Amino acid sequence: GLKKKDVNVLCLGLDNSGKTTIINQLKPSNAQAQDIVPTIGFSIEKFKTSSLSFTVFDMSGQGRYRNLWEHYYKEGQAIIFVIDSGDKLRMVVAKEELDTLLSHPDIKHRRIPILFFANKMDLRDALSAVKVSQLLCLENIKDKPWHICASDAVKGEGLQEGVDWLQDQIR
Ligand code: GTP
Ligand code: MG
Repeated sequence: GLKKKDVNVLCLGLDNSGKTTIINQLKPSNAQAQDIVPTIGFSIEKFKTSSLSFTVFDMSGQGRYRNLWEHYYKEGQAIIFVIDSGDKLRMVVAKEELDTLLSHPDIKHRRIPILFFANKMDLRDALSAVKVSQLLCLENIKDKPWHICASDAVKGEGLQEGVDWLQDQIR
């Protein structure tokens, strides 16, 4: 068959937001981990879509590791930014990390696509994707294509829509 195009994607967001769970769901079932543990540092993962072969930098979201993120910004050709929609208390922290990302010299002037997952939509008190996008002020992102999807990474819901969007932005 045709060779798929290689794309490096950075998976960012606070600890416990569900990054590793999302990436795990996107991998072929025979490569999926059974139990997910908090990421230490980062982990490199791979998954494919119909036209692309993704290499994912699945970064730890823990405070003490967030300073690692910026070292991979130059490499990244797309960003997946994950938010725990049930974590209202830390929504402001998620916004701070997003704003820091968006103002970084290696990101600021690039038209890099950003896919947001408003994850854990299954939680009874989860905020809607619209509400999450308001709290993060996503409408202020004018120089990059972005998209937000509600997701439940445990059941795998909402992930395909997001990845389809990302694939469309890249090819
Ligand atoms: P770090 O590696 O520490 O940055 O965390 P992470 O963002 O990779 O989160 P991880 O994927 O390890 O998930 C954290 C916890 O949230 C795990 O217990 C997951 O099972 C749970 N989780 C992930 N996605 C969902 C979801 O959509 N709904 C619910 N209810 N739980 C989820
Ligand atoms: Mg993780």
